[in-house]
Amino acid sequence: MSVIDKIKAKAKENIKHIVLAEGDEPRTVQASAQIVREGLAEITLVGDPEKIQKVAGETGTDLTGVHIVNPETCEKSEAYAQKLFELRQKKGMTPEQAKDLVYHNTLYFATMMLKMDDADGLVAGAINSTGNVLRPALQIIKTAPGISIVSSCFIMELPNHDFGDDGVMLFGDCAVNIAPEADELAAIAIATAQTSRELLSAEPRVAMLSFSTKGSAKHDRVTVVQEATRKAHELAPDLLLDGEMQADAALVEAVANLKAPGSPVAGKKPNVLIFPDLGAGNIGYKLVQRMAGAKAIGPIIQGLAKPVNDLSRGCNVEEIVNTVAAVAVKTNG
Ligand code: ACO
Repeated sequence: MSVIDKIKAKAKENIKHIVLAEGDEPRTVQASAQIVREGLAEITLVGDPEKIQKVAGETGTDLTGVHIVNPETCEKSEAYAQKLFELRQKKGMTPEQAKDLVYHNTLYFATMMLKMDDADGLVAGAINSTGNVLRPALQIIKTAPGISIVSSCFIMELPNHDFGDDGVMLFGDCAVNIAPEADELAAIAIATAQTSRELLSAEPRVAMLSFSTKGSAKHDRVTVVQEATRKAHELAPDLLLDGEMQADAALVEAVANLKAPGSPVAGKKPNVLIFPDLGAGNIGYKLVQRMAGAKAIGPIIQGLAKPVNDLSRGCNVEEIVNTVAAVAVKTNG
C-alpha cells in the first residue's frame, strides 16, 4: 500500500470536518466532491454559493454532500468577528478590521471556524501564498501546548527502498523557518518525529544534519545543531535522535562507521532528516525530488494547536485530496 493509501485508510477510520477556505477555486471544488465521494472527510467550502455552483457546473462536479458557507450571510460571522477582535486587539486590530477580515477574507473566516470548533482542520493555498495561508493560523490558532514554533516537513517516497522505511522518509523543515536557532531546531525535530508517528505510524529515527559530523568542523552553525541535539534529548529523552552529522554519515553505513562510530542513528537507516536551516532543507528536498525521482508529499505543517495545511499553487485535484486526508489524520496541528 502506498503512503497516501495508508493515510487515506486512517482518515476513513475517524471522519473529520475539514474547511476549504478557497471555496470557489475550481480544483478545490472538484477535490471537495471527490473527498466526500471517497468518504475521507466532511467538507465545507467557504465562499459565495452562486460562484461555487457556477464553478461546479463548469467542471461537471456534483456537490451533493458538500457544505457551503458564505461569510457574508453566515449567522456565526458576527461572533467570529468579535472573537477575532478579542484575540488581536493587543496587536492593534480594531473591531472594524476584525469584521472586514471575517466577512471578506475567506482565510480568516475559515481560521475562525477552526478556532471556534466549527471545523477540525483547514486546507488552503491553491491560490494563496504560504505566508497568507499560515499567517492567520499563526496569529489565531497558535502553537500546540509545549511546542514553541510551527514548522513543516515533507514525506519523501524514494524509488530506492534502501533508505528510511522501505524508501519512505520525512525531511524537515523545508518550508517555514528560515534560520532556526538551537531551541527552534530541537522543536522542529520533535514535531517531525511526532508527524512520523501520526501520519506514517513509523517510530522515528532522527538524524540532525550539518556540514560537520561529531565535531569535524567548527562554526557557529555547527554549534546550533549540536545544541539542538542536546535540547531535543532533554525534551524527548526516549526519542532515537543523534547529531550533528553529515548526510553521507547519516545515510551510508560504511561512512557512519568511519565518521560516527557507535551512533544509534548514523548509518542505521534514519527515517527523519532534520536540516539545519531552510536553505538546506528547501534545496535538499527539491534535489532529491528532481534528481532521485522521489515523490514529495507536503509541506505538512506541524506544531499548530489545530491542523492547518498549505497547498502548492501548482497543485492538482489529487494533491488537494491527499492533503485533506493528511490533515484529517493529524491529531493536533
Ligand atoms: N511559529 C510560530 N509562530 C510564528 C512563526 C512560527 N514559525 N512564524 C511567525 N509566527 C507568529 C509570530 O509570532 C506572530 O504572532 P503575533 O502576531 O501573535 O505576534 C505572527 O506569527 C506573524 O509573525 P510575522 O513575523 O509577521 O510572520 P510572517 O507572517 O511575516 O511570516 C511565515 C510567517 C510566512 C511563515 C514566514 O516564516 C515565512 O515567510 N517563511 C518562509 C516561507 C517560504 O518562503 N518558504 C519557502 C517556499 S515553500 C516551498 O517551497 C514548499
